[in-house]
Amino acid sequence: MRAERQRQKRAHSRRCERARQEPNPDPLVELHRKGELENSAMKTLKDAFHHTLKDIYYAENALVKALPKAAKAAGHKDLKKAFEDHLAETKEQIKILDKVFKSIGEKPEGEKCDAIEGLIKETEGLIDEAEGVALEVMLVGAAQAIEHYEIARYGTLREWAKILGEDQAHDMLSQILDMEKAANAKLTALAVHELNEPA
Ligand SMILES: [Fe+2]
Ligand SMILES: [Fe+2]
Repeated sequence: MRAERQRQKRAHSRRCERARQEPNPDPLVELHRKGELENSAMKTLKDAFHHTLKDIYYAENALVKALPKAAKAAGHKDLKKAFEDHLAETKEQIKILDKVFKSIGEKPEGEKCDAIEGLIKETEGLIDEAEGVALEVMLVGAAQAIEHYEIARYGTLREWAKILGEDQAHDMLSQILDMEKAANAKLTALAVHELNEPA
């Protein structure tokens, strides 16, 4: 048994050694190996803050494009209105984020956020695949997943802003966090009181 474990361990380290020597098709992995990412790698809390701010800026802009599709797909009038209202709020949030960037001396820009891309893709998928009650309740569920994602991000960002002494940014990010929480609460009320009924 012990000999078998040692054999597996030796095979594993041989595989790792081969992987280290073989050229990797991913250019980023190659760059990293050569140490060329050293200067661009994120190292500080400030780097993490700036990166995550760009990530949520990308996410909000992606949502401006995605929310009209959700509003169009919703059959229940209150759900349709919830999406339309949140579209207006999302545009407002982008303006607030512009001010957050300004307050920290950075220009507003987005960086591709894989998480929001995935959440939006999932929502678009169910618009294609579901109908009737299933579509309505799943749309609310998908929208809540997005709100929870945003709540997580803004919660993190505002705490980082506070630690970094960016008080204005902290206040503005808290303002957006409250908007996201209110949007989520509205969706919960809609689901519980209007949409979730036994089939
Ligand atoms: Fe948002
Ligand atoms: Fe939101």
